[in-house]
Amino acid sequence: MRVLDAEFVKNFIRTANDGWEQGWHERNGGNLSYRIRLEEVEAVKEDFEPKEWQPIGTTVPKLAKEYFIVTGSGKYFRNVIIKPEDSICIIELDEKGENYRIVWGLVNGGRPTSELPTHLMNHEVKMIATGGKHRVIYHAHPTNIIALTFVLPLEDKVFTRELWEMSTECPVIFPEGVGVVPWMVPGGRDIAVATSELMKKYNLAIWAHHGMFASGEDFDLTFGLMHTAEKSAEILVKMLSMQPNKRQTITPDNFRDLAKDFNVTLPEEFLYEK
Ligand code: 13P
Ligand code: ZN
Repeated sequence: MRVLDAEFVKNFIRTANDGWEQGWHERNGGNLSYRIRLEEVEAVKEDFEPKEWQPIGTTVPKLAKEYFIVTGSGKYFRNVIIKPEDSICIIELDEKGENYRIVWGLVNGGRPTSELPTHLMNHEVKMIATGGKHRVIYHAHPTNIIALTFVLPLEDKVFTRELWEMSTECPVIFPEGVGVVPWMVPGGRDIAVATSELMKKYNLAIWAHHGMFASGEDFDLTFGLMHTAEKSAEILVKMLSMQPNKRQTITPDNFRDLAKDFNVTLPEEFLYEK
């Protein structure tokens, strides 16, 4: 089978375009990766043309020999649907998890996203934490989440609680909360280490004054998680634009009732009195 005919590739392309349509991917902003299943690799392998091995910039030994489909560095999400073979690529990792090589895509040259270290370190952490279930890592630049990083304290417990309060579905969709990485230089190993540390606990990690990372089992769940958190951030931005204080809100006891009925565990660290 040709790579572009595979279902996982169609899903990847649709997800990238959905993000573009949301306005989360100005210019080359954001990046997306998916850890490809063995049988999916087998089905398209005849279409592969391996290039040179290149250093990843970090080490991910647990991901040795895995294949990923990933957006290219400097490539625009708005172009993924129009010219996928120029905008995205499939990479293979070596047996040590130190190097990668492009086996398909980026036909006009280029390399995988500059955030490859963060993507792969998140994939490694999530693969271990979920017994292999999580396969998608998504980085976007959602406007309202970014705006909030200028006005809220950069603390996990504040962002989690505020996003939960803005929409009843949030504590059900991300009961484990949201992590916050302070401003750091993007594109390297340091921010990858900081982000993947938070991903041990959360499925969402905010990058202050930059964007957000989401992790999930499939494209729908991962995109939906990003969308739900950003929608809540939008409500908070609107609320704060109308008046600085909430007249009424969802209380800690309301959350405890919700947790019981919806069968989710909401950590008490987020249900503090204000
Ligand atoms: P890339 O074009 O290298 O993926 O970078 C975009 C980005 O959002 C960096 O954080
Ligand atoms: Zn970014």
